[in-house]
Amino acid sequence: MTIGIHVERVQVAVIVASTREGRFAETVADWFLGLASRRLDLWIDPIDLARTQLPTRLPVRRPRDGDYPDEVMPFAERIARADGFVVITPEYNHGYPGALKNALDLVNAEWRAKPMGFVSYGGPSGGIRAVEQLRQVAVELHLVPLRDAVAIPMARTAFGEDGSPADPDGLIADSVHTMFERLVWWSRALAAARRVAPY
Ligand SMILES: Cc1cc2nc3c(=O)[nH]c(=O)nc-3n(C[C@H](O)[C@H](O)[C@H](O)COP(=O)(O)O)c2cc1C
Repeated sequence: MTIGIHVERVQVAVIVASTREGRFAETVADWFLGLASRRLDLWIDPIDLARTQLPTRLPVRRPRDGDYPDEVMPFAERIARADGFVVITPEYNHGYPGALKNALDLVNAEWRAKPMGFVSYGGPSGGIRAVEQLRQVAVELHLVPLRDAVAIPMARTAFGEDGSPADPDGLIADSVHTMFERLVWWSRALAAARRVAPY
C-alpha cells in the first residue's frame, strides 16, 4: 500500500544576479537548482538576469504597482507569481551586481510581503557583504529577508571541475537545507496572510 501525502508546492523565483561573460554563477546556479529540484515542496522559476530582457534605465515616473513599461511586464508577472525568492549573487567591490539593483527597482508591489533568501559566493567572505547590502534594499521593498542564508567562501575551490561541490554533505549543504525550510515556512505564512488581508 502506498500512502501519498499531498503537499502544496511553494512557487519560488530563483534570481541569478551575475550577467558577466564567463561568470562563475553558472556553476553555483546549476548546483543550487539541482538541490531545489529535489524538494517536493517547491516549484522553481529560474530568472537568469543574463537572459532576461530588461531596460537598464528606469522610466521617468517612479515604478508603481503594476504600472510599468511594456518591456518590464513579463518580468513583473514572474515576480508576481512567486510566493518567495532566492537571489544567487556574487560580491563585487563589497556590493552586489548593478544588474540586480536594476531588476529590484523596476517593479514594486510584486515584491511585497514575500520572503527572500540569499546564496552568495566570492573570496574569503563568501559574499556576505553583498548580502548585507541586499537586506537593506529588500526591507525598503517590503520584502522579508531571511536570516538564514547560504554563503560560499572561496567559491572556485568549493566546486570541482565538473561543478560538483567539494564537500557535498558539509556546512554549505546544511545551510541550503535550513534556508529552504525557512523559505517555505515564510512563503506559506505570508501567502496565507495576503489572502486574508491584502498587504
Ligand atoms: C568587479 C569585481 C569586483 C569584485 N569584488 C569582490 C569583492 O569585493 N569580494 C569578493 O569576495 N570577490 C570579489 N570579486 C571576485 C568575484 O567574487 C568572483 O570573480 C566571482 O566569480 C564573481 O562572480 P561571477 O563570476 O558569477 O560574476 C570581484 C570580481 C569583480 C569582477
